[in-house]
Amino acid sequence: MDKLRIVGGAPLRGTIAVGGAKNAALPLMTAALLTDETLTLANMPDVADITAMAGLLHLLGVHLNLQGDAGANDDTHVVDFTAKNIASTTAPYDLVRKMRASILVLGPLLARAGEARVSLPGGCAIGTRPVDLHLEALKKLGAEIDIESGYVLARAPKGLVGGDIVFPVVTVTGTENALMAACLAKGRTTIANAAREPEVTDLAQCLVKMGADIQGIGTDKLLIQGKPRLHGAKHSIVPDRIQAGTYLMAVGMAGGSIEVKGAKPPHLQAALDVLQACGMQFEPTIEGLRATCTGRLKAADVDTAPFPLFPTDLQAQFMALMTLADGTSHIAENIFENRFMHVQELIRLGADIAVKGHTARVCGVPKLTGAPVMATDLRASVSLVMAGLAAQGETTVSRIYHLDRGYERLEEKLARCGAHIERVRG
Ligand code: UD1
Repeated sequence: MDKLRIVGGAPLRGTIAVGGAKNAALPLMTAALLTDETLTLANMPDVADITAMAGLLHLLGVHLNLQGDAGANDDTHVVDFTAKNIASTTAPYDLVRKMRASILVLGPLLARAGEARVSLPGGCAIGTRPVDLHLEALKKLGAEIDIESGYVLARAPKGLVGGDIVFPVVTVTGTENALMAACLAKGRTTIANAAREPEVTDLAQCLVKMGADIQGIGTDKLLIQGKPRLHGAKHSIVPDRIQAGTYLMAVGMAGGSIEVKGAKPPHLQAALDVLQACGMQFEPTIEGLRATCTGRLKAADVDTAPFPLFPTDLQAQFMALMTLADGTSHIAENIFENRFMHVQELIRLGADIAVKGHTARVCGVPKLTGAPVMATDLRASVSLVMAGLAAQGETTVSRIYHLDRGYERLEEKLARCGAHIERVRG
């Protein structure tokens, strides 16, 4: 298994480009199931989760045609998805187990083919993450749902019908599944307490290009007038705000100044506000945002919450940053109950962190020291890499297959900005 070896202490200088958002690309790819025409997606990210979703879609009968350089981080990396016929309506356990987002085929398959059989995802490192809200939403659209032998069996033999969905908690992929299904349901659907994440907005905008009628895009109340069919479209995937936020915070960790191309301030406002309060400086550039950090940061508190508030997907990275800050930071994780797996590993590097319930108290220390550490999930892995950039001596991060699920050539991008980091194949 590959590892990353990092020798800390080098400040970052240069430019890093972020590609399309994985969390936007995944639902957008499944939207191809809604039409027999071609959906062309540009700015496709080149990460393991996308390859896994492509494998699943292929199994369901989607024809994929790739053009350009995978991972070019621009509009030259284009993939055509054509679901002329649905060859299968089953998403098998082996694929869903590896990637929870496979549940995103449920709504589109049900809407287009009138049935879907999708394995229940099971547990994952950051918590139980059930899919009950997805199922309740689809029931509101007339689906009959049973659980059999670990699979969700969803049927709508006469087609879905519009309904009123009220999510009791904000769910990103739940909103996306309901939204996609509603586009082909008969009549009007409302989705209240909908997720407003930029990835949901990106999906909605693409669905409109495909002929869907959606009002309220970008708000927590979506109104969808179902259509009998959708057509093909071309869409460029929104840049990855979590990758952008990670690289901005890496500057806070290692010091220096970098331009992050593709960073969109409105998508990162909550994080930028906190980082500014900590002492980082930001300056908009033509293509993104420049982050600069000189000197030690001040501690600040963070509470994770749905967009537009501070994202849970940047919580681990922010915690890494706070390990070296001046003062004490309280970080509350309000989305996932078990998303502090990085804490023990950061402590191995010398961090002073105590967890009580869903809050971590991080007392800033003057220095971290390199050590072997182990990645446990996607965002935890990158927080360890960030800590390694600042730690004295050598840090090795193992199990980086987690990292490869969501970051494209992270080590190359950081090394080009002066970090001493390399992938050790194994
Ligand atoms: C998405 C993102 C993930 C991010 C998360 C929160 C993708 C592919 N993944 O995950 O990176 O960390 O949003 O921003 O976009 N819940 C239920 N029942 C459900 C669904 C969710 O109880 O049926 C709970 C979850 O356990 C969690 C909360 O709702 O506590 C929010 O989860 P949700 O927004 O659904 O996360 P995902 O869409 O899986």
